[in-house]
Amino acid sequence: MASLQSFLYVAVVAVLVLSPSRATALKRSTPMQAAPSPLVESVCKSNAVGDYNSCVKALSCPQAAAATNPKALTTVVLKLAREDAKATIGQILNLLKTGPSPALDQCLKNYQSAVNSFKMVANELREDPMSANYDVKVNTDLADECDRALAAARVTAPQLTAANQSLRRFAMIGFEVTSQLQ
Ligand SMILES: *[C@@H]1O[C@H](CO)[C@@H](O)[C@H](O)[C@H]1NC(C)=O
Repeated sequence: MASLQSFLYVAVVAVLVLSPSRATALKRSTPMQAAPSPLVESVCKSNAVGDYNSCVKALSCPQAAAATNPKALTTVVLKLAREDAKATIGQILNLLKTGPSPALDQCLKNYQSAVNSFKMVANELREDPMSANYDVKVNTDLADECDRALAAARVTAPQLTAANQSLRRFAMIGFEVTSQLQ
């Protein structure tokens, strides 16, 4: 009986180790991200963008991976940036449900402006890449302004800390990728 059990054990281990489809399935379920495209890598390596890994993570979607020129990647970046700022608006509205806060109102305005800005920059791309490059960076000022309002009112929330980093990151990724358009 014992030897049958050990035979089965060895057989199962052998199947697990040797079966290529099983190995692939294991690899696929590993939460590691795919290697970035050369273009994403070059954008994320720029000093302006800050932390390389966070940048790669922010751009780890099939659309960004498929973008093979700066213009295509800019379009993807601006879309991701808009979606991210919209998600932050939802979080601010949730926080506001617990009570009025002029600081949160300020932040709400700023993230709405960010959504509009990323939309405007997307429209500028073809006609005026230099303005797009300047305008997208201005979003870091919107993050600063919200930040100052929160600090003055002593409001802290992990969602807003993450949103702050994320808006700055997308603004600087946008700045870097639009600087490759000219
Ligand atoms: C926003 O980010 C800046 C720069 O990293 C930091 O100084 C500031 O404390 C952050 N604010 C919030 C609310 O997390």
